[in-house]
Amino acid sequence: MSKPPISSRALETPPSPIRKLAHLAQAAKAKGVKVYHLNIGQPDIASPPEFYQGIKAFNKPTLAYEDSSGNLNLRRAWANFLNRSSNLSLDAEDLLITTGASEGLIFIFMVTCDPGDEVIVFDPTYANYMGFAAITGVRLKPLMCQAEQGFALPDLKQIRRRISAKTRAILLCNPNNPSGTVYQRKELEGLIALCNEYRLFLVVDETYREFVYDGLKPLSALEIAPGNQRLIIIDSLSKRFSLCGARIGCVVTKNKDVIAFSLNLAQARLAAPTIEQEAAAFLLPAVSRQSIEDVRLEYQKRRDVLVRSLQAIPGVAAVIPQGAFYCMARLPVKDAEAFAAFMLRDFSLNGETTFIAPAGGFYVSHDRGASEARLAFVLDSSQIEQAVSVLAAGLREYK
Ligand SMILES: Cc1ncc(COP(=O)(O)O)c(C=O)c1O
Repeated sequence: MSKPPISSRALETPPSPIRKLAHLAQAAKAKGVKVYHLNIGQPDIASPPEFYQGIKAFNKPTLAYEDSSGNLNLRRAWANFLNRSSNLSLDAEDLLITTGASEGLIFIFMVTCDPGDEVIVFDPTYANYMGFAAITGVRLKPLMCQAEQGFALPDLKQIRRRISAKTRAILLCNPNNPSGTVYQRKELEGLIALCNEYRLFLVVDETYREFVYDGLKPLSALEIAPGNQRLIIIDSLSKRFSLCGARIGCVVTKNKDVIAFSLNLAQARLAAPTIEQEAAAFLLPAVSRQSIEDVRLEYQKRRDVLVRSLQAIPGVAAVIPQGAFYCMARLPVKDAEAFAAFMLRDFSLNGETTFIAPAGGFYVSHDRGASEARLAFVLDSSQIEQAVSVLAAGLREYK
């Protein structure tokens, strides 16, 4: 009997390039090999104690659904957190809590686009945007950013040329995953003006907002255009507070329709997790700015170690990230995916190997990035040094 067909939507949803080789890492670990995970943005830094205090304080007899729009105390606390850090005047009504930034992005694709509509993105881009687009029937229209120019945005003329009758939004990740590029006031102002002119939404994913280096200051696009009806911010607690497993994100916008229609989608999925939202509502007013600054400084230190170690490998060209916690590097190999698989399947040095994310999957334009990899600096400095020396040995053997 023939199998029932799988939908073309499912067939077209790409596997995550970050997780694609995970089975090889598992097999290496099963053989007793220690694997350094530079492939995934899973911070090793401890989650804030205030979050766990919030979890312990939860003592309701029944674990009920939360409001579909999110815990009111959390929405208030998050609005205040943003107001304090970015000098804004947001209210709880401007926020919708989602199951991570991931769900927020899916909602926003669905609320701003019909199937077949287009969203402009900048290549390389966060790989899961491709998954969200496939799920929602949205077409991503990539514009190339060049490693040689620090993955800066193309000029506005080029972006303008990419806009078609089907374009509904421009999506920017700032600071950028995977490139670590931080877009400044001037670039954001240019995009906001363009979106106003063409009546597009500007969606800015600020998951890594605080993680900027070398004296740069965190900048939310909302600071530039606080009341702009076209501006939608995606935010998350996952990286800022090492709370990836809490699955708490939010959509922030002054556009009441976007919030209202996103809420209809949110009601269809009922609610984001209750206890984690309570704990996050406890965390946000209590957490000190200094603790966020300490984490930022730790990532900056790790970035320096990673870039220095990579630059010491013959044939490797690393682009110095200004923010987030990823580094894009060109490797002296034709096919970084085959090399990443080799590292996990066929190579170890004194019982250790290094897992890197091949960068091809971060390009919507499929013919790009074949010899590039994304490396996450989410291990402590000594482990990063060791992971890169194992990588260097792997490269010598691979050649
Ligand atoms: C740019 C970007 N946006 C969104 C996400 C997803 O975040 P969340 O854990 O809040 O769903 C990630 C996770 O790596 C990310 O890098």
